[in-house]
Amino acid sequence: MSQTGFLTYLCLFIACCVGYSEAFPSKLSQEAVNDRPVIGVLTQIVSDDVMKPFGRTYIPASYVKYLESGGSRVMPIRLTLTTAEYENIFKKINGLLFIGGAVDLETSDFARVAKIFYRLALMANDAGDFFPIWGTCMGLQLLTVLVAGESLLTDTLAENVALPLNLTTEAHSSRMFEGFPDKLMTALTQEPLTGNFHHFGVTVQNFQENKKLNSFFSLLSTNVAENGAHFISTIEGKRYPFYGVQWHPEVNRFQWDRKKNYPHSARAVQLSSLLAEFFVDEGNMTNTHYQYLITDCVLWNISTPFCQSQSCKNDTVSH
Ligand SMILES: *[C@@H]1O[C@H](CO)[C@@H](O)[C@H](O)[C@H]1NC(C)=O
Ligand SMILES: *[C@@H]1O[C@H](CO)[C@@H](O)[C@H](O)[C@H]1NC(C)=O
Ligand SMILES: *[C@@H]1O[C@H](CO)[C@@H](O)[C@H](O)[C@H]1NC(C)=O
Ligand SMILES: *[C@@H]1O[C@H](CO)[C@@H](O)[C@H](O)[C@H]1NC(C)=O
Repeated sequence: MSQTGFLTYLCLFIACCVGYSEAFPSKLSQEAVNDRPVIGVLTQIVSDDVMKPFGRTYIPASYVKYLESGGSRVMPIRLTLTTAEYENIFKKINGLLFIGGAVDLETSDFARVAKIFYRLALMANDAGDFFPIWGTCMGLQLLTVLVAGESLLTDTLAENVALPLNLTTEAHSSRMFEGFPDKLMTALTQEPLTGNFHHFGVTVQNFQENKKLNSFFSLLSTNVAENGAHFISTIEGKRYPFYGVQWHPEVNRFQWDRKKNYPHSARAVQLSSLLAEFFVDEGNMTNTHYQYLITDCVLWNISTPFCQSQSCKNDTVSH
């Protein structure tokens, strides 16, 4: 494992992912439903010294659990492959999640690879296929950079704070919140259900003044940063199944550090569950050749501990 450069926080079967078989031709009928979706997740480069012994790239376990809880498996996607290899991977996944973190959104390998997948997703959707993308925190920021073709990020510090969402009227006709019970929609605007851990973001003003952004995305919610800036906190593609949240739905169920303001109330858990199911369900589509998947290249053997910041934990308990 170690020579593959992967953090083995979940004992992964990643080495196999570098060898591909040719894409299988689609033999499914158009009505076939894929109830075995796989969501791709771009890994991040390890910068934390504590994590370095485990490998060069990683995915926080909370994102993996989040997607798995929605009914998907997860395929980690490394940042060191060729464009042809990414095109091959693209054929084998049903959707993509851009995770949070801190990298340069225009010049990093993460940004380079994200752009390749973003373009493939645009083309697939344009061709009548259905390929959803979700961006969380930096993932939302990345989506705005990809769509706008430039970075519109400014200081919108909201670090370690849980907030209710200031929903727009469009939120009530959105796909993302469509199946939400009324009580949860109300709670979303009144209770601190969304964990924020970010320094930068896109202000409402920058969003509204950028034609590329505001014609591509509907704005579903806003929040106020420590410096008073109003920033976009939830967006949804108008034409494309692309979604972004500046907050972290995965922490509501899968992060337990007491020093962090992770919302763990029943409503917070419900919010996280419904969004995971919503997104995975987006990847559970008819009309797909993705049914043919290499099953041993996704994460499924979660028997080993994962590593996070200062300490290696057992993944089951954390005080
Ligand atoms: C996919 O859709 C089918 C049919 O609606 C459903 O039975 C199945 O549970 C769905 N699977 C997931 C993971 O959402
Ligand atoms: C909520 O958003 C509206 C615009 O949609 C804005 O006018 C208002 O100031 C915001 N309120 C809060 C508390 O952020
Ligand atoms: C899961 O991982 C553990 C630890 O690496 C290993 O011992 C076990 O054989 C794996 N299970 C399967 C079914 O591959
Ligand atoms: C898991 O936690 C238990 C109890 O703290 C510890 O004894 C054990 O070594 C841990 N396992 C791993 C694989 O770290």
